Amino acid sequence: MLLRDLSALEELSATWGEAEQNGAQARAEAVDALNAEAFRRLIRSLRDVPGMSAALRAAAGDEIVYAVLRRHGILKASLFERVNAALDSVRPMLASHGGDAELVAVEAGRAEVRFLGACDGCPASALTFYAGVKKAIQAQVPEITEIKQAKGLGGGAGTTHFVSPFAAYKTDGWTVAADLADLADGATRIEDIEGRSVLLSRFGDRVTCFANSCAHMGMAMDGGEIAGGLITCPYHGFQYSLETGECLTAPEVQLQPHGVRVVGDKVEVRLTE
Ligand code: FES
Repeated sequence: MLLRDLSALEELSATWGEAEQNGAQARAEAVDALNAEAFRRLIRSLRDVPGMSAALRAAAGDEIVYAVLRRHGILKASLFERVNAALDSVRPMLASHGGDAELVAVEAGRAEVRFLGACDGCPASALTFYAGVKKAIQAQVPEITEIKQAKGLGGGAGTTHFVSPFAAYKTDGWTVAADLADLADGATRIEDIEGRSVLLSRFGDRVTCFANSCAHMGMAMDGGEIAGGLITCPYHGFQYSLETGECLTAPEVQLQPHGVRVVGDKVEVRLTE
């Protein structure tokens, strides 16, 4: 309710003239400075009372107390905020490659970061991005000695978790193919997308999509044995990796890949021409 009142006042003052806005801003800053001095004096006078330091620390755990004391410069940025600020400094680099990262946890010298979008699930990108993120965090927050990549899906409902590296920059032509929850880890489903049969497979947080068409004679592989991330064509036994599309029987051919990405809880496919 208090935040809503503040937002309403901000919206109202945005309609004022420049002189009125400057006057209101100066008054708010003067009141802030007075409040900050009062907080400092209050904390200084209580600090040496037995048990009070711990009580003040506990009080700062309240999100409103923390936010107001931070705003007045009385509390320093938490380790989590500092690591997040370091992540912010590399976000433009990640975004320029269609990716992002979120800070999952910070404790005992260790930060846990989850890569999102094109950074997620691409081993080559992950190495580069991990190196950049690690360098930024350790340069800005030297107390962090270990940076771990968090597993599992994070972010909000519209977060892109994974994109086939070759389709990372494609923004159009995507079709919802399945609910991620319906594709169990290690499972493969045959789906019909825009009249074309495809093989959708999940490997942890990564999903692959290949044309359901054997590279030997172009037959659909429905009914072929699927086990251990491999599919065996029911006609003449050509065997393919559903993770890479590679043909184990005749290495010179492979399954035709389609772009795939995971957005929120949906798997989307972008058919290759
Ligand atoms: S058509 Fe698949 S192995 Fe011949």
